Amino acid sequence: MADDRPDEGARPYGGGDAPEGAKRVRIRHFARAKEQGIKITGLTSYDYLSATIFDQAGIDFLLVGDSAGNTVFGYDTTLPVTIDELIPLTRAVARAANRALVIADLPFGSYENGPEEALNTAIRFMKETSAHAVKLEGGVRSAKQIKRIVRAGIPVMGHVGFTPQSEHGLGGHLIQGRGEAAEELLADARAVQDAGAFAVVLEMVPSTVAARVTAELSIPTISVGAGPQCDGQLLVWTDWAGLSTGRIPKFVKQYADLAGTLAEAAERFRSDVESGVYPAPEHEYPE
Ligand code: KIV
Repeated sequence: MADDRPDEGARPYGGGDAPEGAKRVRIRHFARAKEQGIKITGLTSYDYLSATIFDQAGIDFLLVGDSAGNTVFGYDTTLPVTIDELIPLTRAVARAANRALVIADLPFGSYENGPEEALNTAIRFMKETSAHAVKLEGGVRSAKQIKRIVRAGIPVMGHVGFTPQSEHGLGGHLIQGRGEAAEELLADARAVQDAGAFAVVLEMVPSTVAARVTAELSIPTISVGAGPQCDGQLLVWTDWAGLSTGRIPKFVKQYADLAGTLAEAAERFRSDVESGVYPAPEHEYPE
């Protein structure tokens, strides 16, 4: 998203510690990006250091995804992740982000029981982490929850297509919206928009279907494996930077090999310590 934000974005009440010129990305900038055909960029983040780097690189939004279940906590799926596990991660990311919009992902079991449960969870994240928005999964089935949260003044990003919290119901990591299921996907995306969401993630959807959804919606679509015609692109940062090991989805372009770099550094460190090369005199304190 180009840095064309007007001064009305300056912080009210003089609060916060944003450096000069680092105006916060707001949900209105998402709307403007769609109108002007400017692509929106997002990465997941789960900690202060990565969030600082991504924020300074100009990434528009940072999602503290429940993918932390896999990437931070080592669970097999996102299902076990709790609110209490995500809150400190979200707080660390929000503390680092001077410009990016920080979005807190509502974990499985924290909003499905109804609009009041969803609102209470969203309020917890907003009060305890300083995130700027929340995300939750589901189209038609989550519309009432989205509406209730938005009515309370909290921006919501929707998430349709492959929704990892439903992976058992969906029968695995499967592409969504193929063939006749395209109409259902479109209905889900429309329901998210009608409920008041400011943007919607389309995950693992054929590009042609995602293009149709993008053309029909007035809110931006954010692709996670949904092709180039979406209004923005989001990736899980550990996949994108080559830190994740194991199978990486086809839609991910890896921009670094952090796993290789760290493994090599760890081996060199072990070898240096074992052979007495480290610490060298320059690493010692004189008396
Ligand atoms: O948890 C997450 O990282 C996500 C994105 C992949 C959309 O939900």
